[in-house]
Amino acid sequence: MVGVITKLAVPIIVAPMAGGVSTPALVAGAVAAGAYAFLPAGYLTPEAFREQVEQTKALTGKPFGVNLFTPGARSTADTTGYRDRVRAQAERLGVDVGEPRWDDDHYAAKVDIVVAAKIPVVSFTFGLPSAEDVRRLKAVGSTVVATVTTPAEARAAAERGADVLCVQGAAAGAHRGAFENDAAYPGGAPLYDLLPAMRVIGTETGLPLIAAGGLTHGADVAAVLAAGAVAAQLGTAFLLCPEAGTSEAHRKALVVAERETTLTRAFTGRPARGLVNSFIAEHQDAPNAYPDVHHVTKPVRVAAGRAGDPEAMALWAGQAYPLAVEAPVAEVIGILTAQARDAVAALTRRWPVAD
Ligand SMILES: Cc1cc2nc3c(=O)[nH]c(=O)nc-3n(C[C@H](O)[C@H](O)[C@H](O)COP(=O)(O)O)c2cc1C
Repeated sequence: MVGVITKLAVPIIVAPMAGGVSTPALVAGAVAAGAYAFLPAGYLTPEAFREQVEQTKALTGKPFGVNLFTPGARSTADTTGYRDRVRAQAERLGVDVGEPRWDDDHYAAKVDIVVAAKIPVVSFTFGLPSAEDVRRLKAVGSTVVATVTTPAEARAAAERGADVLCVQGAAAGAHRGAFENDAAYPGGAPLYDLLPAMRVIGTETGLPLIAAGGLTHGADVAAVLAAGAVAAQLGTAFLLCPEAGTSEAHRKALVVAERETTLTRAFTGRPARGLVNSFIAEHQDAPNAYPDVHHVTKPVRVAAGRAGDPEAMALWAGQAYPLAVEAPVAEVIGILTAQARDAVAALTRRWPVAD
């Protein structure tokens, strides 16, 4: 079953992008173009998630994957002071801050939906599914993908029974998939620092690798395939597609391309990469409480989104975002494919294949 990922016609995967960015149309457009795509379950109610799966199935007869947030430990960090500091922003936007609370993102119900729908590939971020969940998914023929950010996480994923490792480097847009949400998180290693060690683990365990993080040009896709990955997973490269649910203010900030990206906990309590704005600059002290902080800042983000105010919303983006192209998903996949082929041809000219 792992062949769904290792034998793709186009070795490009449109990343799951929760929060309304990935849509059934984005996923369907990607698989129609011969690539693969994941529909995210994160933040959705089970009913809304089931609906999105149905909508995607209605748009394409081709297989697609889904992605789940693995629930972490209940956070112990105190969010009171942070909530008071965020209140000032909330008042400026005419709303109140949200209540901090921990939840598991309806994890068990979502696993049940995925098992019932026999989704061919199921990926996880923020940690590993239980051995029982892996067993249930495999029993219905699903391939299990674990997002990993360190060699230790990769080994743990292999032991848990994952079929594929999605190696996420530090340049990636939005949340780091790290298993633990440590207060002293150092930021994660760049993709090309991770790949050699991950290739060793992949060879030892027989698990194929997907590479992700900062890949927005076809030359990057060719490079990670040369470095041992079976496919490249790109998120930011698709943020400007008309099929994506990216908000207008977010799109504008990406196109203008004047902002740096940074890792921040300010919006959700977990480290995530986005374009620097005043909210991030003013809240560098956010506690490592996820999803508590997500709930605290939600009214602010929603109000900022409605007002089209880029300074108080999460403008998620990977480091290479200025290379993202504004075109339909199939066209972006075509451009990436042509660029990857050019990169391979240039390499072959430089280093001709022996007769
Ligand atoms: C807006 C956005 C939302 C994302 N949401 C998810 C998600 O729900 N689940 C997940 O596993 N990864 C998510 N990611 C991370 C991607 O899976 C991937 O690691 C990342 O996009 C790769 O880096 P790049 O953005 O530089 O291509 C998201 C990325 C972006 C840009």
